[in-house]
Amino acid sequence: MSNLSLHCENLSSFVSDHEVNDLQSRVDLCHDSLEDGTGQGSDYLGWSRLPSGFSDAAAIQSTADSIRNVCDAFIVVGIGGSYLGARAGISYLSSSFSNQYGRQGGPEIYFAGQNISSDYHADLFDLITGRDVCLNVISKSGTTTEPALAFRLLKEMMEEKYGSDGARDRIVVTTDSSRGALKSLADELGYRTFAIPDDVGGRYSVLTPVGLFPMAVAGINIEELMAGARLAETMYSNSSLGQNDAYYYAVMRQLLYQKGKTTEILATFQPAFHYLADWWKQLAGESEGKDLKGIFPSSVEFTSDLHSMGQWIQEGNRNIFETFLVLESSRRQLKIPAFNNDADGLNYLAGETLDTVNEKAWLGTASAHKEGGVPNMTLKIKDRSPYSLGQIFYFFERAVAMTGYLNGVNPFDQPGVEFYKKNMFKLLGKPGF
Ligand code: PA5
Repeated sequence: MSNLSLHCENLSSFVSDHEVNDLQSRVDLCHDSLEDGTGQGSDYLGWSRLPSGFSDAAAIQSTADSIRNVCDAFIVVGIGGSYLGARAGISYLSSSFSNQYGRQGGPEIYFAGQNISSDYHADLFDLITGRDVCLNVISKSGTTTEPALAFRLLKEMMEEKYGSDGARDRIVVTTDSSRGALKSLADELGYRTFAIPDDVGGRYSVLTPVGLFPMAVAGINIEELMAGARLAETMYSNSSLGQNDAYYYAVMRQLLYQKGKTTEILATFQPAFHYLADWWKQLAGESEGKDLKGIFPSSVEFTSDLHSMGQWIQEGNRNIFETFLVLESSRRQLKIPAFNNDADGLNYLAGETLDTVNEKAWLGTASAHKEGGVPNMTLKIKDRSPYSLGQIFYFFERAVAMTGYLNGVNPFDQPGVEFYKKNMFKLLGKPGF
């Protein structure tokens, strides 16, 4: 039973059934290319079968358990696709303040190497001084500058603290199975390693040890997560738009894009979804933005951003559409109390839950934005469980791959990312640049 449902009523005046049906044959062709590996970027289609082929649970779990037993701070070092999936999953499933008051016997989780900020990393070092630290460095290429720099600093700190042998036992490397500087270093120094499959690109790698190992260290049930992803793999393996919500969402995006709605805003109503939105932005942005084409993916967090970006969305440039991510049921319900004097005028809500108010905020926003000329759709999510999260990850991977193919681009490469690197390396005087 799916924990996700897509609702497109607020698109009816922007996209017709006829337009949707007209795209079915193109979706069939793109789907066949994804299935038989005849489309662009076909060397990187391994993500689509990760859930059904998953057999790493025991190895990931036992390493995670050994790490959980010996540290109270766990640092995940990586950037882009080697960072955002783990962060999204951990934030989605954890308590909002888990690092502040402990994580049910597990370590606090921190992230490094996703920027080159001296202050950020120095502050992190201050924070972990005096704590027992373990580290997972993640890089498929093994050569990415940001995580490599952070790893140098952290490795030195850990070797000073624990000695080389002690540090070795506290460092886990996730990288290519045979290539790259990180793989060579791991082999030379004897680190425990997890391999990233050759046919899975960075931003599609959350369902490999890249995402699963840090999540397991955070105490997340990765088998349940992969069971959810497996269900999604089955549900979204049919090209019929009537039966595949991931493809239906992709088609809506493509049709809106063709009508000049070139920016998609992923709007959430839950702080726990913040990094899920960041993961989605990377997945969609790096996959679709190329050849002078592609939807610009952005995100807002409501209701906070209704007091900020809400004005722009309601009355600004009409080149946007919205996708709401709505949680159907919170883990805990808070009821609004009655006040004797009703000074704040909220007694009309006494006895209602915050969920009820948040739901009405979503409904009110969706209809206001539709009236204001912003087409919107909603992906409803049953709960904050690993099972739902596995479905969400797979849903968006399928949808983004399909949108890329519908728009005629290779959704599995990222040639544009090299440009800043070349300039930076030249400025830094890196040999060969
Ligand atoms: O999606 C991608 O391929 C990129 O975002 C990479 O994940 C990111 O650049 C990090 O690369 P690497 O894992 O090689 O360090």
